[in-house]
Amino acid sequence: MAGSVLEIKNLHVSIEDKEILKGVDLTIKGGEFHAVMGPNGTGKSTLASAIMGHPKYEITEGSITLDGEDVLEMEVDERARAGLFLAMQYPSEISGVTTSDFLRSAINARREEGDGIPLMKFIKELDKDLDLLDIDQNMATRYLNEGFSGGEKKRNEILQLLQIKPNIAILDEIDSGLDIDALKIVSKGINKMRSESFGCLMITHYQRLLNYITPDYVHVMMQGRVVKSGGPELAKRLEAEGYEWIKEELGIEDTEVSVEQNA
Ligand SMILES: Nc1ncnc2c1ncn2[C@@H]1O[C@H](COP(=O)(O)OP(=O)(O)O)[C@@H](O)[C@H]1O
Ligand SMILES: [Mg+2]
Repeated sequence: MAGSVLEIKNLHVSIEDKEILKGVDLTIKGGEFHAVMGPNGTGKSTLASAIMGHPKYEITEGSITLDGEDVLEMEVDERARAGLFLAMQYPSEISGVTTSDFLRSAINARREEGDGIPLMKFIKELDKDLDLLDIDQNMATRYLNEGFSGGEKKRNEILQLLQIKPNIAILDEIDSGLDIDALKIVSKGINKMRSESFGCLMITHYQRLLNYITPDYVHVMMQGRVVKSGGPELAKRLEAEGYEWIKEELGIEDTEVSVEQNA
């Protein structure tokens, strides 16, 4: 199966009339792994939320398309059904919905009506992924993320990724708060997704995740824009030298989004 193409062009995004993203261009194709790096407050999570359709984020200019279809015209659930997936920086706790019920509904939502995944097949695949991610069996019967530790929430996001098998995934700081063993497990899960039909956008501000998952492209965000792109060597240089040299090269003093009131 040929991979999907997510195309972001000149994306401007505002929150409560404050412009956060100021013209982002990014194309992610099936088979490609992209890393978006950058200091805090540069708009990385805003980009993730805008792609997925968080209602608070207003697109004021530019476009997002998936295989040529206008993503901005789609509701959040339609985006998910079209094959987009977001692992959130801070996953929400959803009381009353068990992890396994949530997963099964999400899987079935992407299948034809009346062609839900057979229960035994679901259980078998769930067990396999729980095992791969070293997640306790009983987590599947607990309410989604409720009382989970930070590390368990992150692993649960990757469990969703493996189960839902999206075409394009955005992983927002999937590495934050993980110890080295958990980081290796999470990376193993993400690497398992690698195929020509899967594209991935990994948002992180540490290079260490990229020691386990080699990106094909690395982009640096500052002031609500992608200011530099390169290959994996760019991430290595950032690890060795930090962001200072990019700021100097581009004459940037403050990396954070400088917020201008439009009103
Ligand atoms: N929901 C929100 N309401 C108000 N301001 C926000 C919201 N989300 C993000 N911002 C602001 O947008 C800027 C970029 O934030 P964010 O996208 O979270 O950056 P990053 O993920 O790169 O750390 C920050 O100044 C932040 O305070
Ligand atoms: Mg963030």
